[in-house]
Amino acid sequence: MYQDLLPSDRAKFACAKRAADFVKSGMKVGLGTGSTAAFLVKILGERVRTEGLRFQGVPTSTRTADLAREEGIEIITLEQARTLDVTIDGADEFDPKLNLIKGGGGAHLQEKIVATASKEMVVIADASKDVATLGQFPLPVEVIPFGHGATRTLVEAVLKELGYRDPQVAYRADGDAYFKTDEGNYILDLKLQAISDAPRLSQKLNQIAGVVENGLFLNICSSVVVGFEDGRTVTKDKSGRSHEVNVFEQGESDNLFSDIED
Ligand code: A5P
Repeated sequence: MYQDLLPSDRAKFACAKRAADFVKSGMKVGLGTGSTAAFLVKILGERVRTEGLRFQGVPTSTRTADLAREEGIEIITLEQARTLDVTIDGADEFDPKLNLIKGGGGAHLQEKIVATASKEMVVIADASKDVATLGQFPLPVEVIPFGHGATRTLVEAVLKELGYRDPQVAYRADGDAYFKTDEGNYILDLKLQAISDAPRLSQKLNQIAGVVENGLFLNICSSVVVGFEDGRTVTKDKSGRSHEVNVFEQGESDNLFSDIED
């Protein structure tokens, strides 16, 4: 069926398919959010139905929870799970040290809580997410609605203090309204072009009282599975080792993904 997918979706499918191999029966698995993670959930659902795979999933958003339930995956809360074997999630950018920007789908708060409760975080991404320096993708910052204008001013002051030239800070919109996260918070998107000292930026942003969490994932990701439209996947770990597998040469079942939207 992968021949029916758009080229960009084939790459997402390929990395999701490869990462799904890491899930074994008995595991507790964090399920990411976004279009790539949606492929993963579909593939895992198929394995539950056809192979008898039995695992418990902890979703990182209501969207993912809904999809996982539709797929027949057993869902538990993070409260019930406490620690997870692995979280598999997408990313908006990853750099050579496997640091990430996440939150393009507005779910980075739950994603970070779930990923840091996991022994491993595996990122699935197409090659367009592979960057030398984080920051071309706007950095999402989740803020409490109360006093959000004051919080925005403080965020702008931090960016100025850290030497960002002409940073643009924009509210994420949902039509004519503010975009709201699953927690009912707003998101500021920070257009920075390049982030020079990500740990310092992350720390300074999170010190602002109205900031809940930013989308920098630093030293959290253990490996990245990069997918390509020809079915190749390259799995990279933090030590720089990489391993290539072509999932289209392994064969897979039909009609799984025609209805994926995210
Ligand atoms: C959700 O909030 C994000 O962190 C996503 O994981 C990220 O935006 C990647 O999404 P795609 O797989 O749709 O590119």
